[in-house]
Amino acid sequence: MTEQSTPAFPTPHIKASPSDFAKTVLMPGDPLRAKFIAEHFLENAKCINEVRGMLGFTGKYKGEDVTVFASGMGMPSMGIYAYELYNIFGVERIIRIGTTGAISEKVKVRDIIFAMGACTNSNFAVQYGLDGSFAPTADFYLLKSAVEEADKAGVRYHVGNILTSDHFYVDTPEQTMKWAKMGVLSTEMESAALYMTAARAGKSALAMYTVSDSLVTGESTNADERQSSFTDMMRIALETAIK
Ligand code: HPA
Repeated sequence: MTEQSTPAFPTPHIKASPSDFAKTVLMPGDPLRAKFIAEHFLENAKCINEVRGMLGFTGKYKGEDVTVFASGMGMPSMGIYAYELYNIFGVERIIRIGTTGAISEKVKVRDIIFAMGACTNSNFAVQYGLDGSFAPTADFYLLKSAVEEADKAGVRYHVGNILTSDHFYVDTPEQTMKWAKMGVLSTEMESAALYMTAARAGKSALAMYTVSDSLVTGESTNADERQSSFTDMMRIALETAIK
């Protein structure tokens, strides 16, 4: 198989240059979350991308350069941005910060989850031509640092497997719940693409989430609750980013 050629910057998706990026990027799905983080947590934040509304900012957190850049929703969108950040813009570490739906009874809304592994029902890995299935995992050192920060913050958290699904609206929800029988904690839509793209690029990734809803109990958080649990997680992610 021929290697994919590395396109030059700017790309069709990101109008920036490698010097606009910090080595560590926090990646929420929502562009307006990226803006919120830049405005509330970074000093001297500069907008580095607006193409397709996928906002990115670079600024300082406790004196260190950090970029926050949105991924959009779903594995194809995450796959594009993570690929370009790692392979074209020189980014070394991406920390996804998202929301997730609990499928395990152990997991309550507002808990934080660190994805040690990301199962998936998508065919994203087919492109690698592997003779079996790939197990997408977090970078151990990023995971260790984040868990240490969570312990310091005294928040309720879980570390384990999650499901990266191609579906938000599921025709047969029982299918999603089967993953819980395998100890999978929750479902979301981007992390397996991030972990696989990081692995292929030889770079580091970690995904962490606040639990916005439970597919077990039907409970969901309101906008204020989502914001405050998201803020706890954001601080953990920022402290991890500068370690
Ligand atoms: N499914 C997929 N992604 C999600 C969910 C969900 O229930 N909740 C938050 N992100």
